[in-house]
Amino acid sequence: MKPTRTQVGIVGAGPAGLVLSHLLHREGIESIVLESKSRQYCEERIRAGVLEWGTVDLLNQMGVGERMKREGLVHYGIELRFAGRGHRIDFKDLTGRAITVYGQHEVIKDLIQARLADQGQIVFEAEDVRVQAFDTPRPKIQYALSGNVQEIHCDFIAGCDGFHGVCRPSIPSGILTAYERIYPFGWLGILAEAAPSSEELIYAYHERGFALHSMRSPKITRLYLQCGPEEDLANWPDAKIWSELQRRLAGGKEWKLNEGPILQKGVTGMRSFVVEPMQYGRMFLAGDAAHIVPPTGAKGLNLAVADVRVLARGLKEFYFSGSTALLDRYSEICLRRVWRVQRFSWWMTSLLHRHEGNPFDDRRQLAELDYLTSSRAASQSLAENYVGLPLD
Ligand code: FAD
Ligand code: DHB
Repeated sequence: MKPTRTQVGIVGAGPAGLVLSHLLHREGIESIVLESKSRQYCEERIRAGVLEWGTVDLLNQMGVGERMKREGLVHYGIELRFAGRGHRIDFKDLTGRAITVYGQHEVIKDLIQARLADQGQIVFEAEDVRVQAFDTPRPKIQYALSGNVQEIHCDFIAGCDGFHGVCRPSIPSGILTAYERIYPFGWLGILAEAAPSSEELIYAYHERGFALHSMRSPKITRLYLQCGPEEDLANWPDAKIWSELQRRLAGGKEWKLNEGPILQKGVTGMRSFVVEPMQYGRMFLAGDAAHIVPPTGAKGLNLAVADVRVLARGLKEFYFSGSTALLDRYSEICLRRVWRVQRFSWWMTSLLHRHEGNPFDDRRQLAELDYLTSSRAASQSLAENYVGLPLD
């Protein structure tokens, strides 16, 4: 077996790995992406849906924003619904910015298509990926393809393989410090063939638990319900999901939640997780491989993109000048944003979810929502974090 040589070996074809590969290509830096799943699986996996303005800007600058510009839904606000009433947070007025609702799997489709059109190499269905020798100047990645072992020799490894990937656990013990919080609830998410019932997202706080109304297109609604952390979907027939959503999202006589066939259902657990540092030797962790946020602030994908933007700049500096100054500061630069986003995601989650056991919390949360929706300063703080802090 003759090893293949590239400059940057990237593990994982999620948003982090694909954006990195594309950014490097634009600087004339070669990479190979190794992905354990099939192309179809990656392109159909339903996950996040909200893009910050900075993510949208970057995708446009990268030349992969054409379809997003046509099909993405630009939103200038969200609604917070509690005590049966809706309150709009006006992003345009408060920040001058907007967010774009465009499914993560659509971003993935656009990125894969662009990489392949540029003769980029993405190896799908790579088995048994192993990252090696990343504490030396000559890292290697071994994997198997249809049972045949292959090897890539590279200058750097980017661990973009998500929370359950192989890169983070390959770092020797004692190097990384993990910070973690696990929440005692999860989200049951559905995709339904029904027209969205509101033009904007609705985040609802309700005594029965949190609910979220989002969308993917003028005909497809995405909805979430707070549930147990390991809820069994068998306990949730479609009729029960709709009745629970109707109750939690109720918003006055004239508002009605449109129902339709449920196309997809899933349960996601919730955690906050960060490792420090995000690098070891010549391996850099990016996106969910290094940190997880609970989904309430819609930040996971955006944070993954922010990491690889920093990494691409560092790698560019290395290949153009030989300096590792920026690469050496990769963790420090990324972690500043990571912790600000962790704080926001934790805060949105605590604010909007029902915490069992202490009625004091319920009153306190209602007071906070009241303050948030009646104070310009408080609304502005939510808005500037939600649309996305400026990229470094
Ligand atoms: P990922 O998208 O996880 O990509 C990692 C890639 O690496 C995957 O394609 C995986 O198949 C591949 N991989 C893993 N292990 C290996 C290996 N050993 N070898 C090769 N390849 C490997 N965020 C929100 O904001 N809102 C949401 O509603 C939301 N829903 C989510 C639902 C689920 C089920 C999950 C898991 C996440 C959700 N997120 C959500 C978070 C958001 O989708 C992630 O933050 C985002 O995908 C991070 O991108 P990434 O590229 O870092 O990782
Ligand atoms: C969606 C997901 C989120 O986590 C969120 O906060 C808002 C919207 C979505 O999937 O559309």
